Amino acid sequence: MPEREFFKRYGSGEAFRSRAPGRVNLIGEHTDYNGGFVLPAAVDRDIRIAFRPSEDRTVELHSLDFNETARFELSKLERGAMPAWARYPMGVAAVLQAEGFALRGLRGVVKGDVPLGAGLSSSAAFEAASALAFCRAGEIELPRERLARICQRAENEFVGANCGIMDQYASLLGRRACALLIDCETLSHRTYPFNETLARIVVLDTRVKRTLVGSAYNQRRSECEQALAILRRHAPELKSYHDLGVAMFKAFAHDLPEPLVRRARHVVTENGRVKEAVKALQSWNMVTFGALMDASHDSLKNDFEVSCRELDILVNLAREVRGVYGSRMTGAGFGGCTVTLVEPKHVEEFIRTVSSGYRAQTGLEAGVHVFTPSEGASVESIRP
Ligand code: GLA
Repeated sequence: MPEREFFKRYGSGEAFRSRAPGRVNLIGEHTDYNGGFVLPAAVDRDIRIAFRPSEDRTVELHSLDFNETARFELSKLERGAMPAWARYPMGVAAVLQAEGFALRGLRGVVKGDVPLGAGLSSSAAFEAASALAFCRAGEIELPRERLARICQRAENEFVGANCGIMDQYASLLGRRACALLIDCETLSHRTYPFNETLARIVVLDTRVKRTLVGSAYNQRRSECEQALAILRRHAPELKSYHDLGVAMFKAFAHDLPEPLVRRARHVVTENGRVKEAVKALQSWNMVTFGALMDASHDSLKNDFEVSCRELDILVNLAREVRGVYGSRMTGAGFGGCTVTLVEPKHVEEFIRTVSSGYRAQTGLEAGVHVFTPSEGASVESIRP
């Protein structure tokens, strides 16, 4: 935890700690930037910043994970010589200022346990924790929804990843013991209890570096836009995929060339699956929920083409194990993690069987996380 190092470096006296969790997406993949629906949960891993506002306009952050200190001036935010991790708080500061907020400097120590680069939204978590720290230091009160959009803008404009809104929303608005349904067109959201006595959320990390993810992500975004532009010739009222149902899609799909027809089909059917999954969750029907997850993976693999060999191996192994409701890749794809819902009494067997199968087929050791849906970001006072 960063508190101890913070007080050692900066002395005792009033201070604060912000924390923001990573997320796992249960279902609704590559739908957020298409005005669709997603169902993530915040997880019990987070990024924490112990900090104290300063009288100047200097931000000094020490990362315990990178054992490195970054220092920047709020009046001169340049990415230039910054360590890569410092771009997240810097980006958030830049957007807050661009949106007219007066910030104060701060001194802080950062530490996290969200796995980095695994598709579990460590970057959104760092953005959210930074946003809460800058707001507390500058005595700025903003609704969580607005903060999420500020963090997304930081990621889009400052870090350079063209992501949707899911990760930042999940980190800032997630609730303990709940999944979060987000309508990414209207940005309305609602929580639904997730019953861990029925199913545990097991996340397996392929440990494959996600090299393609940036360029392929942008390519998929643009393919979805191109498909929508063609569909709009028939239905000019469509603003996004939000109101594009399966029936309407089928009526016009003949106009779409390959691969656009498959990209659009994934988004349309995935939106339907999210709505069905919410119903299943409400009636504690984990069997149906799991079947929807399986269908989601198949669609991401065949229609959207964002899976990879290692993800498919993990998913296929999982589906053979007793007590598994469903398994799919989670996050952007091309590596990263799978999410599997497993009956609690079979979790250990599941981990053992899939890990050894994965080792046998790939020579790789899968990362294993059993996550609990957790409370979204928060900030509080701390004492030495
Ligand atoms: C990444 C992005 C999200 C979302 C997912 C795919 O995690 O950051 O906005 O698009 O990919 O569902």
